[in-house]
Amino acid sequence: MTGVNDIRRQFIDFFEKDDHTHVASSPLVPLNDPTLMFVNAGMVPFKNLFTGVESRDYKRAVSSQKCVRAGGKHNDLDNVGYTARHHTFFEMLGNFSFGDYFKDRAIENAWNLITKDYGLSKDRLTVTVYHDDDEAFNLWRKISGLPEDRIIRIATSDNFWSMGDTGPCGPCSEIFYDHGDHIFGGPPGSPDEDGDRFVEIWNLVFMQFEQMQDGSRVNLPSPSIDTGMGLERIAAVMAGTHDNYMIDTFRALINTSVDLTGVKEEGDFKASHRVIADHIRATSFLIADGVLPSNEGRGYVLRRIMRRAMRHAHLLGANDLLLYKIVPTLVAEMGTAYPELNRAEALITETLKLEESRFKDMLGRGLKLLDK
Ligand code: SER
Repeated sequence: MTGVNDIRRQFIDFFEKDDHTHVASSPLVPLNDPTLMFVNAGMVPFKNLFTGVESRDYKRAVSSQKCVRAGGKHNDLDNVGYTARHHTFFEMLGNFSFGDYFKDRAIENAWNLITKDYGLSKDRLTVTVYHDDDEAFNLWRKISGLPEDRIIRIATSDNFWSMGDTGPCGPCSEIFYDHGDHIFGGPPGSPDEDGDRFVEIWNLVFMQFEQMQDGSRVNLPSPSIDTGMGLERIAAVMAGTHDNYMIDTFRALINTSVDLTGVKEEGDFKASHRVIADHIRATSFLIADGVLPSNEGRGYVLRRIMRRAMRHAHLLGANDLLLYKIVPTLVAEMGTAYPELNRAEALITETLKLEESRFKDMLGRGLKLLDK
């Protein structure tokens, strides 16, 4: 099985060879964007390059960006643990062109990477384009040779990506992997599209406009590219599973949680172990990026994530503090790619200990009251 760290490396190497500058992930707290609670897509740190407000000494970039979707517009918190693909924290692999190449090179690179370097079978791939984007449709025909019925035109906002109420936006083209008919689901645009069979692995956005506050849409200074591939999803596909929680990073975290609690990953306990594995990532990365639990704003979202994990630790019957003991596994799995985890390990550990002891006291007092 190809591991997450190898897949991330292959992606970055592929685009570095095509003259993309490797830009390290930005912190999860947006540096200059008050419209966002957390960085929730790979393009966020590059927003001003698309709009032309800022320029840098590169026109092509590649990154693996830390993302959190647990507050604000994109909020997946309540689903985490109960589905195969929801996370509070995930990594988005992306390549970007700021007024350099456009649709043709973006499609060609994407196709080559997934079919050659990642070795996915063409027979398993289906793509979508925005309904009136004949140019993208024809490029897919020419570059991939996919039959016309596997290049699906979609007229909804699913194929028009926007950052939020304002910001850069444009039509997009998504690549789907078909896990096979043993899994329920239909192709994009069909009534069963929400099943797990066809999984979106990569979104290529053809950035052309900026959505303004007053509702108008203006042209960007030059057409640009923003792509996003969920690392956990592509790792699952390459591991031959539709379930992100089966990839190596999550296996290591879940195995640690199982060993520490002595509770097998079965029945209702399966979700609890998954919640813990997901939330320990979000918690640790947020603390490493300077967020601390509190009762407002970002700190409050962090506290909610931590408490949700603690509630599930309680459901698993953990009598002692549990969460801080999983941190070394996370650091072993992800500390090489994200050295900030190593630097913050002591702070993460102490914050988890303190917060979990308080939670246990509160729970104890609440239970006593209930008993009375
Ligand atoms: N911005 C797009 C997304 O988040 C592609 O990176 O899907």
